[in-house]
Amino acid sequence: MEFLVIIGLLIICYAFIRSTFSLFVIGNPKNQLPGPNRLPIIGNLHLLGDQPHQSLAKLAKIHGPIMSLKLGQINTLVISSAEAAKEVLKNKDLAFSTRNIPDSLHAHNHYKYSVAFLPVGATWRALRKILNSNMFSGKCLDDNQHLRSQKVRELIAYCQKASASNNSVNIGRAAFRTSLNLLSNTIFSKDLTDPYDEDSGKEFKEVVSNIMVEVGKPNLVDYFPILKKLDPQMIKMRLTSHFGTILDMFEELIKERSMTQDEKKNDVLDVCLNIIQNNQDDMTRSQVKSLFLDLFAAGTDTTSNTLEWAMTEVLLNPHIMSKAKEELEKVIGKGNIVTEDDVLRLPYLSCIVKETLRLHPSIPFLLPRKLVNQVNLNEYVIPKGTLVLVNAYAIGRDPSIWEDSLKFTPERFLKSQIDVRGLDFELIPFGGGRRICPGMPLAMRMIPVMLGSLLNNFDWNVDLKIEPKSFDMTEKFGITIEKASPLCAIPIPLN
Ligand code: HEM
Repeated sequence: MEFLVIIGLLIICYAFIRSTFSLFVIGNPKNQLPGPNRLPIIGNLHLLGDQPHQSLAKLAKIHGPIMSLKLGQINTLVISSAEAAKEVLKNKDLAFSTRNIPDSLHAHNHYKYSVAFLPVGATWRALRKILNSNMFSGKCLDDNQHLRSQKVRELIAYCQKASASNNSVNIGRAAFRTSLNLLSNTIFSKDLTDPYDEDSGKEFKEVVSNIMVEVGKPNLVDYFPILKKLDPQMIKMRLTSHFGTILDMFEELIKERSMTQDEKKNDVLDVCLNIIQNNQDDMTRSQVKSLFLDLFAAGTDTTSNTLEWAMTEVLLNPHIMSKAKEELEKVIGKGNIVTEDDVLRLPYLSCIVKETLRLHPSIPFLLPRKLVNQVNLNEYVIPKGTLVLVNAYAIGRDPSIWEDSLKFTPERFLKSQIDVRGLDFELIPFGGGRRICPGMPLAMRMIPVMLGSLLNNFDWNVDLKIEPKSFDMTEKFGITIEKASPLCAIPIPLN
């Protein structure tokens, strides 16, 4: 007990001296970064609240698009405008390309193997190359298009079953099962969940969603590194358990495959096992499992959350629903499943997806970066060690860029060249520069196909007496933003 009190006092003294000292050394006042006043010890931590992306968007309105905060002991740079994002993600991309490693990612040493957290270097490049050549190239995606359309067919069949018994569909959960099976078929050539069973995959979704929440949660250890050994919020402990569940599952799948090695599946697992066998790129089994963990964590929740937000916005705006259905009926015929080739001929549907990603970017701060060297940004000198948050959420809602910025208006994209692919910094739901999301080509095929098929095969009704919170737009913050209350809607057969 006495020991703990002494440790506590030491921490407080240390933190106080460091944070007070830093108030005086943050540089020449002329070029001092704007930002809110700091309290001793905690700096600006108290300003984050439980929706940090919203709190920081509000603060940027006061202090500007390049803003400095002190989160505990950590100098933090918050970028909240398209021009400043372009500086960070394009003009000075390399200097800003190292990821910040949250303490929790030391669980199972994930940060050492993860494509999403390794620094830009030979190993990271090799992993990105594996992904780009074997999963996300136009050719690979064209070649396994049939897999995805089968999964969308299963999603529609599931909704038909619900419709026959007048049951509602939990849209996020159904979309999650579809995205999960889609990825698992691309990687392992098998389903990981039963598409027709409401409860199947629930546990996996919970694990993935818990990972997103835990990794996104402000963790005292990240702001007061001296607390590292204590893990006071037990975030690393819980992540160790969540990662363990998924990594064990991958281990089983790898073992299963190793026993049937003669049967070539030509999926991502085969490619990775070949690379390990041939000792290429120094790839290890742990790295392969971490890569799969990244893909499932980054690729399932993001896709299903986006679909859930899109369906909610469309259901809340009947005129948008009618226009989308009209386009679908005209181009592919009522009651048909949308294919990836159809999407190019469905401009309004694509506008709905872009508008959803503008207002509800799944990863609001992108994946945060950390400066390994001091960098000049406009007139400011940003010190080494600074944590960098690019607030894609704030940029997507910036009223100086977007007219009626909070209104869901897909039409705004009909005549605009602005796209989500990382070249237009007004709209960066997938980030930008060399660390841009590698899964974007897959996500941008999947989301319109799922959304279009749901809209083209059913009318949708929300019974607010039974599901009163379906239209509640409250967000649940984590690495990804989820809809706090799920959208549950009843699919009605078409006339
Ligand atoms: C709507 C769907 C998605 C959204 C909004 C999204 C968004 C993002 C964002 C914002 C980043 C960080 C980019 C940056 O820091 O500049 C990222 C990184 C990443 N995403 Fe996605 N993503 C989506 C789907 C996917 C899918 C389907 C996969 C794979 C199956 C995937 C795999 C990854 C990986 C591996 C990274 C880390 C890349 C690196 O650090 O080099 N994402 N994603």
